[in-house]
Formats: sequence, structure tokens, C-alpha cells
Amino acid sequence: MSPADFAADARVLWQLLRGSPRTGSHAQRLADFYAPQAARYDAFRARLLHGRGDLIAALEIPAGASVVDLGCGTGSNLAMLDQTRPIAALGQVYLVDLCPPLLAVARARSGALANVAVIEADATNWQPPRAVDRVFLSYSLTMMPDWQAVLANAWSMLAPGGRLGIVDFHLPVGGFGNEIWRRWFAHDGVHLSSQHLPTLRALCGDHRAQERRATVPYLPGPRVPYYLFVGIKGQALP
Ligand SMILES: C[S@@+](CC[C@H](N)C(=O)[O-])C[C@H]1O[C@@H](n2cnc3c(N)ncnc32)[C@H](O)[C@@H]1O
Repeated sequence: MSPADFAADARVLWQLLRGSPRTGSHAQRLADFYAPQAARYDAFRARLLHGRGDLIAALEIPAGASVVDLGCGTGSNLAMLDQTRPIAALGQVYLVDLCPPLLAVARARSGALANVAVIEADATNWQPPRAVDRVFLSYSLTMMPDWQAVLANAWSMLAPGGRLGIVDFHLPVGGFGNEIWRRWFAHDGVHLSSQHLPTLRALCGDHRAQERRATVPYLPGPRVPYYLFVGIKGQALP
């Protein structure tokens, strides 16, 4: 890693050490937390947020499908989407987030893509104009205070036969080190839970789930637990 990259990482680490602001609205806290990190967000999070490409592959997105990325951040998932299915071959793609400094990066990234809309909105209640084929959240559910409402909203925007995908950190039932991980991430406004997977299983019925662990940058040794989940919405009865 070059000295410039290391200095950029140090600024992100400083922000993580300071933690998420404790005052202001949820949107204001996100903006204050992420604004100093936005330029280095992708390079740092590529080493922290594992499994995003695997999730997008597991969504088996067909040509022409409409896709929503809820809590899209900088829109970095566009590159992984493009690897499974060229963006131009998709239907409408919506990138939704509540944080203007990260959305500015997403807008710059997607500017030339005619079928990508970047939208500043709350995932708790934003709805696309018509039902969509795929909805996914990568490492955003744990940052959404009313995550149950977000899941209900995501599920409701899916067309019959559509898929909901989630990849995120969590606390596995009886997991070693759960309390340490819970406190560590809560400092930065990321709320790990044991309830996400059971709630998703109950909501979606037909689903696949995998639990994994992954490394954390600058933390040799412990591996943080995360999961991948894909739920399939049943076809409407004739
Ligand atoms: C850890 S980042 C993940 C970003 C991106 N999905 C990725 O994989 O790099 C969590 C994201 O969730 C967004 N977020 C948090 N609460 C939100 C809400 N209520 N509505 C929309 N986005 C939200 C944050 O602004 C942030 O961009």
C-alpha cells in the first residue's frame, strides 16, 4: 500500500474511532459520519464488506429486470451488477440512499448510464413507481433504525417471482464474541442483531441463507460474522 493510500485509510480509521455522531436526525448523522470518508469509502469498504458480489450473483438477475439497491452508498455495487449482467441490458435500476455525500459519488459513477436513477430517500418508505424484479441491501440494513419496516417495504415493492437479497453483518445464535462485535460496530452506528435472519426467514418463506465469517482491515485474527440471504416472492395465484 502506498503512503498516500495509508494516509487515506488513516482518515477513515480516525472517523471510525470517533464513532457515529450522537446528535441530529438519522440523515444528518449519516452525512456527518460519511462526508469525511466518502473519497476513500470504496477502497476501505472493499476490504470490510465481503460477499457483495456473491449476493448479486445469487440474485440471478435476468436481462431486462428492474433492480433496486436500498442503502446503495457510493453505488459501488454497480460494478458487481455489471459483471453478472451488463447494466445496459437491465431494465430500470434504482440506487436509493439517505446520505448526500455518498450519493454524490454514486451520481458521478452512474452519470453515463441512462437506465440508472440515483435517489435521495429513506428506505423505510421509498417506493418505485411500479413493482420491481430484484431488491437488495448490502450492509445497509444494520444501519437502518427501523429495519423491520425497511424489510416490509422492500418485500412490498417486489413483483411476484421477484427476489430480495441481503448481505450484512449479524450475531449468529450462540456465536463466540457476539457481545464484542455488537459493541464494536454500534460505536459506528451499525447495529448487529440475531433477529435479522429469523425475521427474513419468516417474511420470505422460500429462501436460501448462508452464514460466514470474514476478516476486518487492520484487525488481525478475529473474523466478523455475516450472512447472505435470498428470498423468493411466490407467484401470484391465478
Ligand atoms: C455501510 S453503508 C453500505 C453502502 C453500500 N450498500 C455498500 O455496500 O457499500 C450503509 C448505507 O446505508 C445508508 N442508510 C442508512 N439508513 C438509511 C435509510 N433509512 N434509508 C436509506 N439509506 C440508508 C447509509 O447512508 C449508507 O450509505
